[in-house]
Amino acid sequence: MQIEQKKGTFEIYPYQNPDISVSERVDDLLKRMSLYEKIGQMTQLDITLINKTGNQKDVVIDPKKARNLIQNHHIGSFLNGEAVEPETWNKFMIELTRIAVEETELGIPVIFGIDHIHGASYLKGSTIFPQSINLAATYNPEHAYNTGWVTAYESSDLGHHWIFAPVLDLGVNPLWPRFWETYGEDPHTASVMGSAFVEGVQNNEETAPYKQAATAKHFLGYSDPRTGWDRTPAQLSIQQIQEFHRPSFQKAIDAGLKTVMTNSGEINGVPVVASHFILTTLLRDQMGFDGVIITDWDDIGKLVDFHFTAENFKEAVFHSIDAGVDISMTPKHLDFNSSMLELVDEGRITEERINQSVRRILRLKFELGLFENPYPRNDRLHRIGQPENRKKALDAARESIVLLKNENNTLPAIKPRRIGVLGISANSKRNLCGGWTLAWQGGKESQYPDEMHTIFSALKEEYPDAEVILFDPDDIPDPNAISKKEESAFLDKLNALDLLVYAAGEEPYCEFTGNINDLRLPQKQSDELELISQSTASLVLTLVQGRPRIITELIDKVDAIIHAGLPGFEGAKAIASVISGRVNPSGKLPFSYPQYPNHFLPYNHKKSSYFSFDPEEANRIIQNNESPALYPFGFGLSYTTFKYSKVRLSSESMSEDGSIKAEVSVTNTGKETGTETVHWFTSTHFGRITRPVKELKHFERVTLNPGETADLEFVITPQKVAYPVKSGKKIIEKGTYSVIVQKMHNDFEII
Ligand code: BGC
Repeated sequence: MQIEQKKGTFEIYPYQNPDISVSERVDDLLKRMSLYEKIGQMTQLDITLINKTGNQKDVVIDPKKARNLIQNHHIGSFLNGEAVEPETWNKFMIELTRIAVEETELGIPVIFGIDHIHGASYLKGSTIFPQSINLAATYNPEHAYNTGWVTAYESSDLGHHWIFAPVLDLGVNPLWPRFWETYGEDPHTASVMGSAFVEGVQNNEETAPYKQAATAKHFLGYSDPRTGWDRTPAQLSIQQIQEFHRPSFQKAIDAGLKTVMTNSGEINGVPVVASHFILTTLLRDQMGFDGVIITDWDDIGKLVDFHFTAENFKEAVFHSIDAGVDISMTPKHLDFNSSMLELVDEGRITEERINQSVRRILRLKFELGLFENPYPRNDRLHRIGQPENRKKALDAARESIVLLKNENNTLPAIKPRRIGVLGISANSKRNLCGGWTLAWQGGKESQYPDEMHTIFSALKEEYPDAEVILFDPDDIPDPNAISKKEESAFLDKLNALDLLVYAAGEEPYCEFTGNINDLRLPQKQSDELELISQSTASLVLTLVQGRPRIITELIDKVDAIIHAGLPGFEGAKAIASVISGRVNPSGKLPFSYPQYPNHFLPYNHKKSSYFSFDPEEANRIIQNNESPALYPFGFGLSYTTFKYSKVRLSSESMSEDGSIKAEVSVTNTGKETGTETVHWFTSTHFGRITRPVKELKHFERVTLNPGETADLEFVITPQKVAYPVKSGKKIIEKGTYSVIVQKMHNDFEII
């Protein structure tokens, strides 16, 4: 066949022929590479090393710096950036690609990695979806798929080949500052949502001829540090790893996931990046992952100056390569490359070990089509932020809003005449989006699109006939320094209004900058709420936050509570339409909202995790699978009501190769059309390894008109209630099980 001669390459090599198999191409290319070229492929460096100013925001290439790194050190990958114009990205990637493809002998294209975690977040004008914690609250995997799909659709033309998402860690520790990057605390929800995101990114046919790779991160157990602080040690049994932390990653791998990023922390005393057990025995041998493993940011360096497990950088490199790492996100120097050379020289790392990693990396580049289509294009930039994409983000945001309390049907607020909007998120765009939006820690307020709404402006639009009044933070007197006279003047002002929306919560943070000492809602906000709650106007607390800040003492003081989470660019519109009732809320908590700052448990805790010495209370707790949550996992109100029938089973028992059909009927008993998510749990009465009180196995959304009934079913097989032992092998316990929907349950046996 005729192969087009690439400019700058001297010969036509077999690896340039797209008609032969990827493995033949990889083998051919590998044998033409020098050792140092191979090591270069195993390195990822930061954009600041190849841009003009060395500043993160700068997406303008310095060709001299890039040439040095690519021609002399053969660097195969770069990462990072910030939200700049598509044309700027396009130019940057053309120039970077040209150096790699046309100005080196082998012409191996670079692969560029970027943290587009909820839409193309480092691209001006892009569509920004809700963060993952909100997507999970929709219990609609289509939204996770759309988030991945639109991300690829809007960014793959720009040379963004590699998306550092989804986060498949479990949101089990609400203190953890990356809680909002997760799909919540439940392994099944994270599995379904995460794999949908991966498919959206990797299987988007509209991006042809380009393809993108997704990254499941941060493998594994990162989210459950004992202190709740970022990157601090976790103590996890192998049982917990196999049973709870593995499934979300496994499902993504089964869906064709191409890359995995490591957890920067330690588990049981071993930093994960240096753990052969986690990266090789578990991830490769047991889970069957054969894609690329990349470290997180400077994980190898952290072995020296954070974990103190390696005396120097070279030792750290040895530990991580020995553990199974393919690419070092070094990302600011060339010590990985020089250390690797020395380690090979000393006979501690073999070239065959290097070949293993480089094969995977080259295979990734071939599979993404980088050799055939290395250059970005700019003739489809109209796709970025186009209305259809933003509609997808709006639909996701609407379904992600969770109504937690609605005393006396405060909501929907029909025809209020005067609305007051207060609180730190009343008029903020950035607070609605959280970190990894436009910039690592979230962009500056002025960077957000003009057409994006804040809660205040969205309410103005939602209620064109009402007077909507914004209270600046300075308009709320300091509750601790206020005189009686000032207090009553302020309350008089509020009493003249009929609806108050207090938008509380958190400002954006990312990673360690979000570490906190106290999970309670910040004192200033609680004090303000106390004061405001004395007014006669109805008070709606709207929580715009990345993790569940404790509100236990406040819930009786407010009439309604909306958990808005981090709903993204379209979030304010979604909140306003839920307040007005144009949208009937349908979000359900993907985590247990904690009641106390010092005691929290996920819904799938052990029976012995929550007990009482009072036998009656103990019995009630066990019977109801209770937990100490303020609002339990799966909770969320609607403007209509749903009634469930008993759970019916097709049989009372099954053998190890049998199945039982479980059915439940749900009726909309209210006056509004509404959507309910039905959660199907199972629970084993006895297990040789202590079992969770219940485990989510299936969920389904159903939309019903008033009076309408739907019959839903879930087919239970022994495999669905099997659980892994330490080796990862699943066992099926014979005995009695329950299938649970809401408070209803029915029992069956495995015989
Ligand atoms: C974060 C990762 C991210 C990487 C690259 C790290 O600090 O932990 O989630 O993908 O940086 O930006």
